[in-house]
Amino acid sequence: MFENTINIRLKTSLEVHRIRKPSRIIEQLFQELREIIKPGITTKGIDSFCDEYFKRHHVVSAQKGYRGFPASVCVSPNQVAAHGIPNNYPLGRGDIFTVDVTIYMDGWHSDAAWTFIVGPPRPEALYLIKSAWQATRAGVMAARAGNRLGDIGAAIQKIAAHFGCAVLDDFAGHGIGESFHEDPIVANTGTNGVGQPIVPGMVFTVEPILSLGGSRVKMLEDGWTVVTCDNCLTAQFEHTVAVFGDRTEVLTFSERNLESCPEEPPFY
Ligand code: MF3
Ligand code: CO
Ligand code: CO
Repeated sequence: MFENTINIRLKTSLEVHRIRKPSRIIEQLFQELREIIKPGITTKGIDSFCDEYFKRHHVVSAQKGYRGFPASVCVSPNQVAAHGIPNNYPLGRGDIFTVDVTIYMDGWHSDAAWTFIVGPPRPEALYLIKSAWQATRAGVMAARAGNRLGDIGAAIQKIAAHFGCAVLDDFAGHGIGESFHEDPIVANTGTNGVGQPIVPGMVFTVEPILSLGGSRVKMLEDGWTVVTCDNCLTAQFEHTVAVFGDRTEVLTFSERNLESCPEEPPFY
């Protein structure tokens, strides 16, 4: 469903280093967010916390004002698949929500998303979060020089199918760098051995959204909020990765090796 062009801007290792900085800042934000999540916090409260965090760290939200998006981050609870606009919805026990953060620093962007639970977790929500984590992890592991983009989609699809979850194929990852969204499009479904070859210097996101029901989504009247048609829960982990000849670095998950977290995220 997505067409890739060949306008991929490869990054030098110095440029990748520039993208490391905002990536670390997002990574740390998720850890700090975990500490402030408790029943009653509104999605707007999450946005305000992120906004102050950005100021403290001298970074700018790339989302605020992007095609008119009105907030600093996207906060997408429960059946909201993506692009949730922070509002006065108070998060309650058992709710899950995805925070998607894209920031800009010294000319370079980084983009990551994390799904959290307001405890205590409901078993099906935890199951979905673990499945989404493993899908992203599998996609990232397939994002190696010598592979093709189709290998990433195939890996994601395989894990999602294994867990009986749907992949929301209206959404995809993307190149990132001096621009927020660059080529290539990194589809979340695909066929092994098919598509654009993955080469050193590529920096892109892997960001599948999984649901516990169907894959159909619809947009609400605000022009942003995308929800599942069957109102089923969704979860998403997004990472920005940099491809080198001999390894792929997960820029937004630097403190731990992704391979050491095979089954579930280190926090949620
Ligand atoms: N960060 C999202 C992505 O992963 C895009 C959000 S666009 C916004 O590509 F305008 F909603 F911020
Ligand atoms: Co994002
Ligand atoms: Co993205």
